[in-house]
Amino acid sequence: MFSAVFIVLVIIYFWLFVKVKEEAKPKFYGTVPPYPNFNASSDASVLQSAIEKVDVDVIVAILVKRNNEQRQKIKAVYESSSGKNLVKSLKSVLRSDVEDVILALLMPPAHFDAFLLRRATKGVGTDEDVLVEVLATRSYAEIQEIKKVFKQEYQKELEEVIKDETSGDFTAALLAMLNTKRDQNTVVDMELARKDAKILFEAGEGIGKANVSTFINILTTRSGPQLSKSGAALTGDRVTPGLLVHLVHFLSYQGHGTRDEALIRILVSRSEVDLQKVVEEYRAMFEKTLHEDVMNDTKGHYQKVLLALCGPN
Ligand SMILES: *[C@@H]1O[C@H](CO)[C@@H](O)[C@H](O)[C@H]1NC(C)=O
Ligand SMILES: *[C@@H]1O[C@H](CO)[C@@H](O)[C@H](O)[C@H]1NC(C)=O
Ligand SMILES: *[C@@H]1O[C@H](CO)[C@@H](O)[C@H](O)[C@H]1NC(C)=O
Repeated sequence: MFSAVFIVLVIIYFWLFVKVKEEAKPKFYGTVPPYPNFNASSDASVLQSAIEKVDVDVIVAILVKRNNEQRQKIKAVYESSSGKNLVKSLKSVLRSDVEDVILALLMPPAHFDAFLLRRATKGVGTDEDVLVEVLATRSYAEIQEIKKVFKQEYQKELEEVIKDETSGDFTAALLAMLNTKRDQNTVVDMELARKDAKILFEAGEGIGKANVSTFINILTTRSGPQLSKSGAALTGDRVTPGLLVHLVHFLSYQGHGTRDEALIRILVSRSEVDLQKVVEEYRAMFEKTLHEDVMNDTKGHYQKVLLALCGPN
């Protein structure tokens, strides 16, 4: 009798233990999970021979099926064993749009973001949409990392660049985004949520002239529970994915160059965060899949990479 009770208690204990462990681990909403049985040295040598033979199929197949951390390891092994720079080697065998997306996949996330911000602010004119998209959707901790990498890579403070390249309300909003920690309060103000939802919706639909600083202020300062009542869900500390769904769809009507840059930017940087959710919401909103739109609008190896990033259909 005693031992039966004991056994039942032990079973309950282990069941609870496993359950608590499962709940403690955040669910993965990305589309590119770590590759099982990963071996950086065998990948690096396959990659090296594929580069020598200009076998783009193999290059693509390896790099899209590894997550970013694994790609960094492959890169390190490739460079130490061949004595060559992987980015340079790939540039010599890949062309245009495939090259752009593959090189994006090879940058650690903070480097990719710093690169995007640099490209958006360099030269004549500033790509304000990119500044908003990157800064509004990254967490506070990620932004601190981006600032550090930006300084290392470009020898300039990101804040100074933003002050030089933008003006007025918009500058103030961007600077707030660089330095604001999200409200951690979990109590929801329903009246505020309704007002925010209207502003977010109008900005997402491109209705009228959205007040950018108000829009950004909402996305960066409201707590997770507060934002979700306005229809903008969060994963951890980041905004997701309604805003991005609108953005991807909106961009599919833009010119080729803009559209491809945005597709690469969004698919690469969300592929290990919440792209699965973006894919699901896209289907619910537009009654067709993101995969179908990518298939319809792109071709060749470039299409293969994008489809792989979109995950299972
Ligand atoms: C990885 O692959 C190499 C050959 O490419 C092999 O020598 C090595 O044992 C493998 N490592 C592991 C941990 O399987
Ligand atoms: C946007 O909203 C802010 C704060 O509500 C206000 O100070 C600013 O003047 C508004 N900007 C425009 C262009 O309406
Ligand atoms: C594919 O693209 C063409 C031209 O942009 C469009 O007319 C057509 O409706 C699209 N098909 C699908 C299935 O989205």
